[in-house]
Amino acid sequence: MKTAFFEITPSEKETLKARKDLGEPLFFSEEMHKVSPVKFRDAEIVSVFVYSQLTAEVLKKCPRLKFVSTRSTGYDHVDLEYCRKKKIVVSNVPHYGENTVAEHTFALILGLSRRTRQAYIKALRSDYSLDGLQGFDLQGKTLGVIGTGRIGLRVVRIAGGFGMNVLAYDAFPNSLIAETLNFKYVPLERLLSDSDIVTLHAPYTPQTHHLIHRENIGLMKKGAILINTARGALVDTEALTLALDKGWLSGAGLDVLEGEDLVKEERQILSHQYSNEKLRTLLQTHILRNRDNVIITPHVAFNSRESFMRILQTTMTNILAFRAGRPENTVGLPPAKR
Ligand code: NAI
Repeated sequence: MKTAFFEITPSEKETLKARKDLGEPLFFSEEMHKVSPVKFRDAEIVSVFVYSQLTAEVLKKCPRLKFVSTRSTGYDHVDLEYCRKKKIVVSNVPHYGENTVAEHTFALILGLSRRTRQAYIKALRSDYSLDGLQGFDLQGKTLGVIGTGRIGLRVVRIAGGFGMNVLAYDAFPNSLIAETLNFKYVPLERLLSDSDIVTLHAPYTPQTHHLIHRENIGLMKKGAILINTARGALVDTEALTLALDKGWLSGAGLDVLEGEDLVKEERQILSHQYSNEKLRTLLQTHILRNRDNVIITPHVAFNSRESFMRILQTTMTNILAFRAGRPENTVGLPPAKR
């Protein structure tokens, strides 16, 4: 089966090329929607990362497509409804190191709590004064974890090591785990009002679109910090900008941004027609980027040496399992119903 890999980095390509069981795969460094369909029209299997927008329009250009293997946990970039209709199986990488994203979450938390960004910039300027560099301890503070799945629970465990109290909110709470790991489920509003740091670990779905919005962001504790390593559109960017401007929040750590694809393609903005709403979000992101109490990382929470190898390994397992007629790690409808 012809397999096309998109958004492939040179080191991924090197690793995959060494695999003899892949036949003669096609490799593209660009996102699938940016590659001319002539180049991959015959592919029956495609593998992408999160920036390929697998809409019905893009998927239609691959008429023989049978299997999509996304090299990510999140799959909100894939039109699952279209895939269901066309009997295209979709697999993800459900876990490749929840510790990897959880550790990055704490990199952002500590970056803000110990003001490392400001300290680093001062040190570069040979300014060793302590002005403006006083941070705060995590010990004794309350962490609000939204989404207690694989990553969220790892964050809870690490928070325990720092001596933090943990509140959590989840659409499907698990009281046994809460008792075992010593945290408490509360309604979202209570989590927002009682936490010093709020961190998001829920998937992006229609239900979680702008889970943090203009009304409920105002419930957050004065001076609290918001961390998002899940998906950008869980947070209404305009509401976040307002909360930082008004001083309701003292900082934000963002590995993911609303309209992240557009941020990546900034140079192409003048040659495309984008909605006012998208352009407005982009402008808000620029405003956020220039704030010294906001740390933005470019969707790298997953990106450690160890997780990179595990992602490729699971992707290979997914592809080989599909080819053997026993798909694994499927998302959307169970394979039996396809
Ligand atoms: P998971 O599926 O194990 O956990 C998600 C949790 O969110 C579950 O406990 C679920 O019940 C809960 N949830 C679902 N809908 C909810 C709602 N409406 N309100 C509150 N909670 C809700 O997923 P995992 O592995 O923990 O990953 C979480 C998210 O992190 C992924 O969906 C992905 O978008 C993001 N992610 C980001 C990465 C990065 O590099 N920045 C890397 C990997 C994942």
